[in-house]
Amino acid sequence: MFPSSLPAPRTPDSREAPPLKWGIVGTGWIAERFVDALHKHSSQQVVAVGSRTRGSAAKFAENFGIERAHGSYDELVGDPNVDVVYVATPHNHHHACATLALTVGKHTLIEKPIALNARQARDIAELAGAQGVFCMEALWTFFLPKFDVIRQVLADGVLGEIRSVDIDYGEHFEPDHRIFRQDLAGGPLLDLGTYPVALTTSVLGAPLKVKASGTPAPTGVNGQIAAVFEGQNETLASLHTTLFAFTPSTAVITGTQGVLTIDGPFMLPGNFSLTAPDGRRLEYSEPAIGHEGLHFQASAVARGIAEGKTESDVRPLSDSITTMAALDAIRSELGIVFNEEVP
Ligand SMILES: NC(=O)c1ccc[n+]([C@@H]2O[C@H](COP(=O)([O-])OP(=O)(O)OC[C@H]3O[C@@H](n4cnc5c(N)ncnc54)[C@H](OP(=O)(O)O)[C@@H]3O)[C@@H](O)[C@H]2O)c1
Repeated sequence: MFPSSLPAPRTPDSREAPPLKWGIVGTGWIAERFVDALHKHSSQQVVAVGSRTRGSAAKFAENFGIERAHGSYDELVGDPNVDVVYVATPHNHHHACATLALTVGKHTLIEKPIALNARQARDIAELAGAQGVFCMEALWTFFLPKFDVIRQVLADGVLGEIRSVDIDYGEHFEPDHRIFRQDLAGGPLLDLGTYPVALTTSVLGAPLKVKASGTPAPTGVNGQIAAVFEGQNETLASLHTTLFAFTPSTAVITGTQGVLTIDGPFMLPGNFSLTAPDGRRLEYSEPAIGHEGLHFQASAVARGIAEGKTESDVRPLSDSITTMAALDAIRSELGIVFNEEVP
């Protein structure tokens, strides 16, 4: 039955999560936003940063008031005062950096996508399991309050039988961005496509069949992809991702009794609406704070670790592996092979 109102988000106050001591691996774009979000909105303490170069670590530490700057990732993960490591390097370095941190027994949060492919993702999950520490892919979108409301709407069966998922995510990048580089596993699929694929597989499960078409960017990496998933119970998903332009980046989940439309960019904090076949409509809104919303996932990690968990209920490693396998299937349709995968 179509509800008279939407459920409230159950997201706890980030400032009340147990304060953990974080160490940051890599000093790039997302690392800056992560630390800024934690400082502004949480009680988490960023105590150390590690970079391939001591100078970059020192500059980052100075900019963000961080106590210790390490001139290598090895040194950072070995810092005895770090409780949890955040891996913020390019995709093709996630496996190596996560392995470093997990091997010395550190809880580890790994930027999305968790790895380059499903094989690497399984390897990370196995190592984390053997070490008995907390490990999660930083799929921060799923920790936003709006996604807690969306999960409740889906669990309540408000949409009726789900028939399809349609998601688009495109961004403009300047030509010198790493997304154009073959040696950094460039192309939109892992950077942007992880979000649509993660949302689709979380709603419909792993695809039974995947079809895809793509066109290249001038540097030779893939530039854009349109994919179709056939899922269980005669469900379909259409996905589009591009590095050529900012696109509407909306996500639509369609059921026989309702349509859920997440405004673009769907992966950021923002609004969504629920529409019944007779036109009744409910709207959810939250402040569009962009990447400041990264604090929700960090606080969830801190709560999970304090509770003695080794995985997140919201983003377990098995879901990250399912996402990676679907991304692998899209690449296999297009013949995209990353440098690390060439025999
Ligand atoms: N959650 C989100 O909203 C979001 C947004 C953007 C990106 N991401 C993810 O975060 C990861 C990093 O993206 P980013 O945009 O922050 O990248 P970036 O600005 O290029 O920073 C990546 C950092 O990784 C380190 N690194 C290690 N090996 C490197 C290499 N061979 N080449 C270049 N840098 C290397 C560098 O730090 P040092 O020089 O200090 O070692 C560099 O600053 C990606 O996996 C991406 O998917 C997530």
